[in-house]
Amino acid sequence: MHIIHVVGARPNFMKAAPVLRALAGRDGVCQTIVHTGQHYDANMSDVFFRELDIPEPDVNLQVGSGSHAQQTASIMSRFETVVLEKKPDIVLVYGDVNSTVAAAIVCAKLLVRVGHVEAGLRSFDRTMPEEINRLLTDQISDILFTPSQDGDENLIREGVAREKIFFIGNVMIDTLVRLLPKAKAQIASDLPDRYALVTMHRPANVDDADFMRGMLDALKEVGCAMPVLFPIHPRTRQRLSEFGLSDGHDSLRFMDPLSYLQFLGLQTRAAVVITDSGGIQEETTFLGVPCLTVRENTERPITVSLGTNTLVGRDMKVLRQELRKVAAGTNRVRKIPPLWDGHASERIAEVLLK
Ligand code: UD1
Repeated sequence: MHIIHVVGARPNFMKAAPVLRALAGRDGVCQTIVHTGQHYDANMSDVFFRELDIPEPDVNLQVGSGSHAQQTASIMSRFETVVLEKKPDIVLVYGDVNSTVAAAIVCAKLLVRVGHVEAGLRSFDRTMPEEINRLLTDQISDILFTPSQDGDENLIREGVAREKIFFIGNVMIDTLVRLLPKAKAQIASDLPDRYALVTMHRPANVDDADFMRGMLDALKEVGCAMPVLFPIHPRTRQRLSEFGLSDGHDSLRFMDPLSYLQFLGLQTRAAVVITDSGGIQEETTFLGVPCLTVRENTERPITVSLGTNTLVGRDMKVLRQELRKVAAGTNRVRKIPPLWDGHASERIAEVLLK
């Protein structure tokens, strides 16, 4: 069985890594890694390959940045050539980024089977580009691997045949479980005892100057109680500089994007994480660290119902209220969702090899 894994953006790497490992060395399995080049900076891509022990990509499509249409179209036309040449038996796509949907469409048209890892998640907000990517990818995938049962329910409601759906758990947690000891061992010794950790990169947030000004003001207030560490995504860095907001503050520390191990290490000891990322909602739930998500909705509702995640929307008053609850320790007790156990990728391998 020849399997092509398509990755492109930072959150894909920690999902593909354990699946590649679970399939490596299995009888009759040959694997090819295609990097679309959606993320290309060393600290957004190369360092993840190194730390997650992902082999060098066999092919790099080098598409780079662009509008959604440009980026998706470049991936499609370049990836089509690869599929025609390599003739895979199945292509695995991960998550909800433009690389995911672009590769899935190519395969569907060439009648090559597609497996979607992290299928079924829905924010029900079609203004989010990722929601469009999820809906389309799931409709044209042949095998759908879901991280939580809400995913199965969403897919069934959308008419996906039950026999295509496999609830296997969360592959990103496989990577976390494997690398947590290493991440903890690398934590800098001069880290403050208490700190808040922030990430922000969604266009709906970071492209809005008023919102960013209000959020930085709120973060500076948090900074009076504890230092705030803010590794900045390149898009956010660009926007803050356009808005004249790129000066940090004594207690608000702007940093370059961190590696996987550095960021995981920081998450484990954070008093609170403030984010608009999808994956970080899951990682904090597993780690039991309070997470305040600066979005009106989430495609990962299980992190709210079982985990440590609270949606604060874009209202900084609510953020301040929730921060007070975290400080008072009155936030909820958490549970780890079913099958977030470090073995999701092995279940994917079993399904594929059957
Ligand atoms: C993409 C995903 C998003 C995911 C995020 C993680 C889509 C639609 N979005 O968003 O779901 O949460 O990745 O980071 O696929 N840039 C660089 N260097 C890089 C990559 C990007 O400077 O290596 C800058 C460019 O200015 C680029 C901008 O960041 O235009 C946005 O990059 P892009 O890949 O389009 O989307 P992300 O915001 O990273």
